[in-house]
Amino acid sequence: MGIASDITLDEILADWEAGFAALSWQVDLGVTEAIGEDPINRYELLDPVKPAPQGKSMGAPNPAPPVSMSAPAVRPETDAVDVAKALAAQAKTLAELEQLQAQFDLCELKKGARSHVFAGGNPHARVMILGEAPDSEEDREGKPFVGASGQMLDRMFASIGLSRSDLDAQHAVYVGNVMPWRPSGNREPEPHELAMMLPFVERHIALADPEVIVVMGNAALFALTGSKGIMRKRGAWEVAFGKPILPMLHPAYLLRNPLAKREAWADMLALRHWLKTARGVNRP
Ligand code: URA
Repeated sequence: MGIASDITLDEILADWEAGFAALSWQVDLGVTEAIGEDPINRYELLDPVKPAPQGKSMGAPNPAPPVSMSAPAVRPETDAVDVAKALAAQAKTLAELEQLQAQFDLCELKKGARSHVFAGGNPHARVMILGEAPDSEEDREGKPFVGASGQMLDRMFASIGLSRSDLDAQHAVYVGNVMPWRPSGNREPEPHELAMMLPFVERHIALADPEVIVVMGNAALFALTGSKGIMRKRGAWEVAFGKPILPMLHPAYLLRNPLAKREAWADMLALRHWLKTARGVNRP
């Protein structure tokens, strides 16, 4: 055992028990470090600090990179926006955009989502609808607006003769979201998460090239215009990414607040009027 042979086992145990009792008592008192009887100046024991060779570790498994006090604060979302812009710019078609967006790894929501939910309906439609983010049904099926709020959305647009299954662009709608991954617990996407997906939204709009965009709810309104307040702004036309946009109450809100369907109906009529009277901005 490496212990002097003139000490008996009883003595070892007695010492050990006494030592253990003393140590336990100190731990009970809150002692967290063992120190000796005499003070030691540990600075005197150290070798002068040698600078580490450039780019080499000083022994720690994952040393933190040196931080310069004058370096600008790192904003990961800014880098993510740049990466998203570069990816989105490569897309020449909607199919390419779908693939490139699915490859984007910097949005945390992707890790918790089952599906990448890109879009549905007729991509040639005059009307593009932008919602918030997939819910659990959409996450399961990989398609936008297939749950209860999707059924409500279909009923709303059917009331003015539009459908996502219509092959005629005049009577069709194209449906997407400003966030393609389901936020866990169905929370609203955070502003920085929306910001990093915005280059994809912008490219999505450019490639689908609708005449008008219906913006469903606060998160989509915030993503496109940088401001919220859907209760105040619904029904008031604005312009985003060069397209007329019509903010509307989200169908999920209408399911919870049936009385608000009156406002939604007024907005559907405004959209129908616009579609009947507007000269297609981009189409003959
Ligand atoms: N809510 C949305 O905003 N989008 C969906 O796809 C489903 C529910």
